[in-house]
Amino acid sequence: MPLILGLESSCDETAAALVDGDRTILAHRLAGQEAQHAPFGGVVPEIAARAHVEALGPLIEAALADAGKTLADVDAIAATAGPGLIGGVMVGLLMAKGIALSAGKPLIAVNHLEGHALSPRLADGALQFPYLLLLTSGGHCQLLFVEGVGQYRRLATTIDDAAGEAFDKTAKLLGLGFPGGPAVERAALSGDPKAVPLPRPLVGTAEPHFSFAGLKSAVLRARDAGIHKPEDIAASFQQAVVDCLVDRTRRALDSIDGATALVVAGGVAANKAVRGALEALASQYGLPFSAPPLWLCTDNAAMIAWAGLERFQAGANDPLDTPARARWPLDPNAEK
Ligand code: KG4
Ligand code: ZN
Repeated sequence: MPLILGLESSCDETAAALVDGDRTILAHRLAGQEAQHAPFGGVVPEIAARAHVEALGPLIEAALADAGKTLADVDAIAATAGPGLIGGVMVGLLMAKGIALSAGKPLIAVNHLEGHALSPRLADGALQFPYLLLLTSGGHCQLLFVEGVGQYRRLATTIDDAAGEAFDKTAKLLGLGFPGGPAVERAALSGDPKAVPLPRPLVGTAEPHFSFAGLKSAVLRARDAGIHKPEDIAASFQQAVVDCLVDRTRRALDSIDGATALVVAGGVAANKAVRGALEALASQYGLPFSAPPLWLCTDNAAMIAWAGLERFQAGANDPLDTPARARWPLDPNAEK
């Protein structure tokens, strides 16, 4: 049974994990950088890259020790090769190349989005292809028809901001702190989702895509009006995002044949209102619903090890000159 070491460093989490072919996560270590980025209200790429350099080596050693394994026990080294902040991606990919070269193991260069896309299969052994995936994170908001490992058909993407980005900007506008998603979700718990009228961009249109920029501007106007409580704006904003995600996902479900499940992954999938609304949508369509546990939704290395394992089992072995890529669409036919 294969054992894969996975590394993640594409944004502001440094992580190392060991996963085997039985879906056992033998170890997962993660070092966040929130405190270092918080004074700037967002991720600073140069600070992120330097922090990855410092954190990654010790995290790998700790993960191997947790699992009681050495590099000799590992069958392949998987690392995020993009898309993401290029300095951070280079740190993780170079480390993986160094280990692969010195230990004589195959390198698996993983697309970070493929890590999110396959993560539900790590958590849910019953989840089969093909499934409709809503991949919603800080950098992406896409609907993908996942037909197999390496087979992703993009049905929709955002024409401006990603949903997670909208959560982060809303948190900043409302002074709720960084990172924004969990802060908005917390504030929304004590707010009224109907208190503030906010737009639902593109809802009900034949257009398949997402748009969140207009919603963000509306949040700014609502704040500046000075008549709403921040928790009411947070709750109303969250409800608007949920309505957009559900409407677009319903449209995608109507446009495809053969999906065996509705799946949500990526950082925004950690939001309970989002999960609940999509679960209800799946049941309307008589489909099973699958979402990874909260910690597997946000960036981590277990999902990279798992995607590496699925690709390793499909015969992947990437050359040591594989480049780090800031941009790397999952669907090669997607123009953007
Ligand atoms: O997948 P992820 O960790 O990193 C990217 O690949 O982008 O996603 C991070 C994004 C951030 O925008 C964060 O605010 C959002 O996911 N997020 C949430 C929640 N937890 C994280 N958004 C809404 N509710 C949450 N509980
Ligand atoms: Zn991510």
